[in-house]
Amino acid sequence: MKIVYTVQELRQQLSSYRKTEKTIGFVPTMGSLHEGHLSLFETAGKENELVVASIFVNPAQFGPGEDLEKYPRDLDNDKMKCRNCGVDILFLPDNHEIYPEGFVATVVTKLFNMVQPDRAYFGEKDAQQLAIIRRMTADLNMPVDIISCPTIREENGLAKSSRNAFLSQEQRTRAGILYHGLKTAEKMIRDGEKSPEKIKDMFRRMMEHSSDITVEYIEIVEADSFRRLQSINGKVLIGIAVKLGTVRLIDNIRVSASEVY
Ligand code: PAJ
Repeated sequence: MKIVYTVQELRQQLSSYRKTEKTIGFVPTMGSLHEGHLSLFETAGKENELVVASIFVNPAQFGPGEDLEKYPRDLDNDKMKCRNCGVDILFLPDNHEIYPEGFVATVVTKLFNMVQPDRAYFGEKDAQQLAIIRRMTADLNMPVDIISCPTIREENGLAKSSRNAFLSQEQRTRAGILYHGLKTAEKMIRDGEKSPEKIKDMFRRMMEHSSDITVEYIEIVEADSFRRLQSINGKVLIGIAVKLGTVRLIDNIRVSASEVY
């Protein structure tokens, strides 16, 4: 029995089979295999030349507070059972292999299929999400125009977010520092700063004034590709995620750095 972990390995294993008349039987499972599962492997084995089984505990099938963490896992025994029941290829993908972009692409695809809109509107506030959706619709030739809309902010610059409801009034006021930090970064870039590290240091130092703010990340990336930059040039996106107390806040701005020194 061959064990594969990535889609690429799986495809490689299956490619020679596809060229033959032989059929592939597939049994998807979440593991902790029992007689019920084994009966599927056996039936698949009787009806096909090749049997592929997968074990993936799918987080999308567990609601909040459900037993995702507690779901039984017994991989060593599962492998043995698969081997004994004639499984030829066991596919053990991790979350990232199945959901490279989290669940956003999945749920948005489902919604697009339900609504079949001409245009769909997304906020620039969730820049990564917007980029994923753009990429997905382009790659899969989805017949929908993705329209981006600017980030709407409170008077102090704090990006509006449903999560802001978890902040106290005092925290909400202080959270203006995030936007202030982003605008300071923008000014540094406009004034010619090319070093992402210097800008990140400035931002982190600004956030240190508040003891309950922790910077999860500040990244300066190429605005279109989201590639990290060694040196700031062209259109960039400054993205941040911070925790204010227990509340995770994200924000970003786009800056057009001048190409000339
Ligand atoms: P949600 O966080 O409710 O946001 C819904 C839409 O509103 C997203 O496109 C988001 O970018 C936009 N939005 C949120 N805050 C904004 C702000 N301050 N200014 C402008 N636009 C803002 O994002 C999601 O839900 C989900 O991931 C979803 C796309 C619905 C898929 O589940």
